[in-house]
Amino acid sequence: MRVLIIHGPNLNLLGLRETSIYGIKSLEEINNDILSLAADLGIDVRILQLNSEGEIIDAIQEGAYDALIINPAAYTHTSIAIRDALLAVGKPSIEVHLSNIYRREEFRRKSFMADVAVGQISGFGPVSYLLALRAAKSILSK
Ligand code: DQA
Repeated sequence: MRVLIIHGPNLNLLGLRETSIYGIKSLEEINNDILSLAADLGIDVRILQLNSEGEIIDAIQEGAYDALIINPAAYTHTSIAIRDALLAVGKPSIEVHLSNIYRREEFRRKSFMADVAVGQISGFGPVSYLLALRAAKSILSK
């Protein structure tokens, strides 16, 4: 069971960036929690943080994974190209957000990924990633 996790743009600044929205945990701390749960669940996880749209698309296309967990960050609301990459590769994907994108500005309520993902987890802070990992396990166990 191979799961690729992609953290999109600006998520390298977690812990410093808008902490009232995204919390005080750094990306490294979040990744450590993900790796520890992945070990418990027997999932082989690879984690990438990518700031540019092209790099995210290259990683999605590379395809050496069974399921994808992706927080496309601001590209969620703009990127038809990332959406198309998800459709082209056709692997199950789970969209993740730390914040509840439906409780924020109007422009964040549109996700170009939501209807091509298996599901979306939004609003649980770093726990969103852990819930997504459990969802990936469930999808891949079927
Ligand atoms: C985010 C929500 C996006 O609207 C925002 O652009 C981000 C982070 C989240 O995890 O809550 O960068 O994806």
